[in-house]
Amino acid sequence: MALAEFIAELEELAAGAESTFALAADMPALEAARVEFLGAKNGRLKTAQKGLGSVAGADKPVAGKQFNGAKERIEAAFAAAQARLETNPAASGTPFDITLPGKRLRLGHLHPITQTIEELKEIMGRLGFTVTEGPEIEDEWHNFEALNIPLSHPARDPLENFYLATAQKLANDTGAAKTSESAPASASGGGPLLLRSQTSTVQIRVMEQTRPPIRIISLGRVYRPDDADATHYPMFHQIEGLLVDRHVTMADLKSTLRLFASSFFGRDVHIRFRPSFFPFTEPSVEVDMSWGERWIEMGGAGMVDPNVFRAVGYDPDVFSGFAFGLGVERVCARRHNVTDIREFYKNDVRFLHQFG
Ligand code: DAH
Repeated sequence: MALAEFIAELEELAAGAESTFALAADMPALEAARVEFLGAKNGRLKTAQKGLGSVAGADKPVAGKQFNGAKERIEAAFAAAQARLETNPAASGTPFDITLPGKRLRLGHLHPITQTIEELKEIMGRLGFTVTEGPEIEDEWHNFEALNIPLSHPARDPLENFYLATAQKLANDTGAAKTSESAPASASGGGPLLLRSQTSTVQIRVMEQTRPPIRIISLGRVYRPDDADATHYPMFHQIEGLLVDRHVTMADLKSTLRLFASSFFGRDVHIRFRPSFFPFTEPSVEVDMSWGERWIEMGGAGMVDPNVFRAVGYDPDVFSGFAFGLGVERVCARRHNVTDIREFYKNDVRFLHQFG
């Protein structure tokens, strides 16, 4: 056999072995390929070796070298395929049922509370309310004082709020600086800070910066040191609404909330006002909703108290307005028949997937 022919044959053999080993999908396929190429009796490498004998004597050293090179390539390809399949148990030859149903990949989605917030924004947007935001860390002026909640009011009790240990407070407590500890909070800021306990703070922030007419909502987190139970959580969300103009009446408040309720819950929801008290509204009401059986309290509302208007520099004889504040968790829980709001914050995907 001519040397060139022998070399070409070896090349074809090695290349064929390399691709066959690389494509072996499992151990049985690899074993079959091993027998085909490296089999001791009739393996193709063995057969090729026989061709060596028919190469001319002078060409033998070159031909032998070529043969050894091809043999090394084939053995290396086998070893590589073996290593590949050993690290992949699925290819170990265990029968695999390709008719089994596949595992569906789940897409992520928004948290139910976020979904509710988006929907509330959309509904109130259609009624002409624009969305505003306020800070979650507040001063006493915006959280209490300007909302007509005096220093003596129990809502300001440190045990009912998350006050923050600010640098100034720390200094005061250690007696390092004698500053305005007893001075009343004012619009100029200063004084203790706290995590806001209600989104009514945003009413003040908006009115301080704009003149009527005002028609805003604000949605966000609020914080109270409550023990968590089926209806309470130390952090929850509120939707706050504020409308200020001339000649605004309680009827406007009620029709707005009724429209809101029927848009979110559907036509069969009933709405009821119960007389109540909030420092920042007069008169004040509790807003209840019902689907036939019992009434569920969704939040508070009322006509903006003249003292609140005075705090932000509006003339209460010229302007009137209504405000409301509802619990987003409550609204969302009712909508989806969730009986324990703690579920919203456990991060259990089995629960959360239901809202996808
Ligand atoms: N801020 C009240 C609360 O957290 C809810 C509320 C009641 C908001 C009456 C209002 C309102 O705007 O007018 O309990």
